[in-house]
Amino acid sequence: MNRASEKRTVAVLAGDFIGPEVVDATLEVLDVVTAARGLDIEYVRLPYGGNAIESHGEAFPQATREAVNRADAVLMGSVGGPVGDHPWNRLPREQRVETAILALRKQLGVFANLRPVQVLPGLERLSPLREERARGTDMLILRELTGGIYFGKPSFVEQDRGLSTMVYERHEVERIARLAFETARRRRGRVTNVDKANVLDVSQFWRDVVVEVHQDGYRDVELDHLYVDNAAMQVVRDPRAFDVLVMGNLFGDIISDLAAVIPGSLGVLPSASLGGTVGLYEPIHGSAPDIAGKGIANPVGTMLSAAMMLRYSFDDAVGATALEQAVQAALAEDPTVDLGGTRGTAAFTSAVKDALRTATPDLTPPAPRPAQV
Ligand code: NAD
Ligand code: IPM
Ligand code: MN
Repeated sequence: MNRASEKRTVAVLAGDFIGPEVVDATLEVLDVVTAARGLDIEYVRLPYGGNAIESHGEAFPQATREAVNRADAVLMGSVGGPVGDHPWNRLPREQRVETAILALRKQLGVFANLRPVQVLPGLERLSPLREERARGTDMLILRELTGGIYFGKPSFVEQDRGLSTMVYERHEVERIARLAFETARRRRGRVTNVDKANVLDVSQFWRDVVVEVHQDGYRDVELDHLYVDNAAMQVVRDPRAFDVLVMGNLFGDIISDLAAVIPGSLGVLPSASLGGTVGLYEPIHGSAPDIAGKGIANPVGTMLSAAMMLRYSFDDAVGATALEQAVQAALAEDPTVDLGGTRGTAAFTSAVKDALRTATPDLTPPAPRPAQV
């Protein structure tokens, strides 16, 4: 396939508060990569989130629902209002911004959320952990994304009772477990399953299925288990002990924010949500209303999500690696303020672009070969 000949579409859901700030910064650097790589990408900006409630009366308008399915990939900033009392938070559950996030994931069928946590060489000092503890951290949190307590029924709020249901079906656990073992085979061959099987029936079921999948075809992969409370402690105590961690939706949400402190900031963690026909790429952080408009939002999580998009949706490992290395170089020079550096979003973005331009000769794709007959 001639990469240059194909036009691709990326649905861009910039979002609320810092969402557009980190997405615009990312598109700037992505333009440099795609130009050098000969990738022809059209960005289609779509209303989604709190801003769409204001402009279209709903967080996930019908036109956006249709457009994301037609796209080759979805790049999302972050959506949502300030924590606490805010008009968006007073809407009934089905109209809330966060419900639109779940609906997007469900619609795309992206059951596997990959949240890599790495401390790159030379960046150990950005970690609040002692350097020798942080050095070499390279774990992948694999979070189940379209099931569990986020989607279980019944679920309601009544005058004197609130209820959510955590449920996992066999096929949901089997497919994420298989992916965990397959992924571990291409890494360091270790899977840690995180659950709460000592208390929750749903977790005992989850664990039983993970063990079955392991015994049925993945005995070469090392498997161990941690209860989620202990996992929270072990992940920060000795992050280097982990390779692939697999867990349900709620536990993955919490453990990944916790793990974000290891590289130094919630602003640096990317994610890719896969398993459907269209990949969804977004940083793991939220819309950070407390810092919006100040020019200090860290765009690294979104930039690294775009690198994952190049790798998984556009099969461009060279472009992805170049972008990751440029981000790494800019961080090593002078990181963003949340990481103790001096750069705001714009200065950091310029530094990434400079680093990419230095690398541009290596990025140029080889001339297309004559068509085979
Ligand atoms: P948050 O992630 O927005 O912010 C938590 C803290 O981290 C804040 O102090 C914030 O300033 C900081 N932070 C986050 N991203 C940063 C970045 N890129 N650079 C520098 N600092 C950063 O979490 P929250 O305050 O609990 O949630 C705010 C809103 O975001 C809520 O409406 C929530 O529902 C929503 N949210 C959306 C997504 C998403 O769109 N995928 C994810 C998480 C939270
Ligand atoms: C995340 C967010 C979302 C989640 C919320 C905002 C729906 O916290 O992407 O981590 O819980 O999945
Ligand atoms: Mn979260």
